[in-house]
Amino acid sequence: MMTIDVETLRTWLEEGRPVTVLDVRPAAEREEWAIPGSIHVDAYDALQARDPGVLAHVDLPEDRPIVTVCAAGRTSLIAAELLQARGIRASSLEGGMKAWSLAWNVAEVPLAGDAVRVLQVRRTGKGCLSYLLGAKDEAMVIDASLDPQVYLDLASQYGWQISRVLDTHIHADHLSRSRQLAERSGALLLLPDQQCVSFPFTTIRDCDTIETSTLQLAALHTPGHTMESTCYLLNNHLLFTGDTLFPTGIGRPDLEADEQQARARASALYHSLHKLLALPSDTLVLAGHTSEPVPFDGLPESDMTALEAGANRCAIS
Ligand SMILES: [Fe+2]
Repeated sequence: MMTIDVETLRTWLEEGRPVTVLDVRPAAEREEWAIPGSIHVDAYDALQARDPGVLAHVDLPEDRPIVTVCAAGRTSLIAAELLQARGIRASSLEGGMKAWSLAWNVAEVPLAGDAVRVLQVRRTGKGCLSYLLGAKDEAMVIDASLDPQVYLDLASQYGWQISRVLDTHIHADHLSRSRQLAERSGALLLLPDQQCVSFPFTTIRDCDTIETSTLQLAALHTPGHTMESTCYLLNNHLLFTGDTLFPTGIGRPDLEADEQQARARASALYHSLHKLLALPSDTLVLAGHTSEPVPFDGLPESDMTALEAGANRCAIS
């Protein structure tokens, strides 16, 4: 077999199976993003020229399969062929990094003694972070960014029915799948108040609270990144911040904004971050994005010191 599909490689990495991912793209492309743990050989042009010796010097572990990767899955096929000719178990990732952009993995947020389980569902390549919150037989999803089937399958594994789907804001910089997920699951679609979308939704406003027997999710309007941006506080402990606050940064107020709008949003963000600072200092921040591709390590991207750091960053910038 000469190729491997994204789902198979994703499963291998999630299960921790030994595999070496060999990235053959030009160095500049790899700098933008890469599969975590992959190794790189800058052989793109030589592979295109079908130089038979191009990978001869590359030291590869012999005890595991090699998966070659390029941008779209064509040059990596040449690389896999050359390696196979040397007797190495090699295959090429179908569709390359373009296809890999939809790969995902899951990390559970550890919650001691809580009846709620929180899964961080990560679109690994682009660093989009979404959340599946489940308790008893019911679940909610925040900032769905993957194929709805991913959330439906996960929920069914845990015996949950998805009842509500929420977004923290209307995304300018990545695709939301919340609407499709709500349609597929029959869940209620909850969005912050705004006029950006033309499809039906239920508005969620500042201080609105969703309560079940096991969880309480409170909406905190935090304008800045966008004017409708809203954070969600779960059981007074976990804060889903969308693009308002990250473990190592704060949301950009200047996307799709002229200078005046950007200034107004920056000012709003300053006040929003100080509003969040009033929350308990051990509040765990769970953001909507991470700047690096998400590793297959099962560890949630989160931070307990982000509230103060975010407010400080805003004050000095
Ligand atoms: Fe955003």
